[in-house]
Amino acid sequence: MYNETVIEHFNKPQNTGYIRDCDAEARVSGSSCDDMIFLYLSLADAYIREAKAKTFGCAAAIASASMLTTMLPGKTLEEAKEICREKIVESLGGLPEAKLDCAALAAEALMQAIRNYEEKQN
Ligand code: FES
Repeated sequence: MYNETVIEHFNKPQNTGYIRDCDAEARVSGSSCDDMIFLYLSLADAYIREAKAKTFGCAAAIASASMLTTMLPGKTLEEAKEICREKIVESLGGLPEAKLDCAALAAEALMQAIRNYEEKQN
């Protein structure tokens, strides 16, 4: 059902945990399930320095959030805004059709964290 990359990120999620004094955070839950992703970002000089996630959910959600945290460091927020569900799925080498919404949850967490950061700046 899942490819090797997905299984790897599920078995050994990258960048798990939270960031103390983070610059942005998000907490999202699935619309059709109770799965949750917490995402934390820290920035330095307008670049994302670190991203961490805690996921309480299915294998696809855990793998998606893990992959997302590896895609963010070194990007500006504008560049990070380009990371959508499709890009996460592509980076994972694909997900089963029925699990695409799980990657969407990770993308939603990112957008919420970016909004959180922007609100703090205003
Ligand atoms: Fe809920 Fe995957 S089934 S995020």
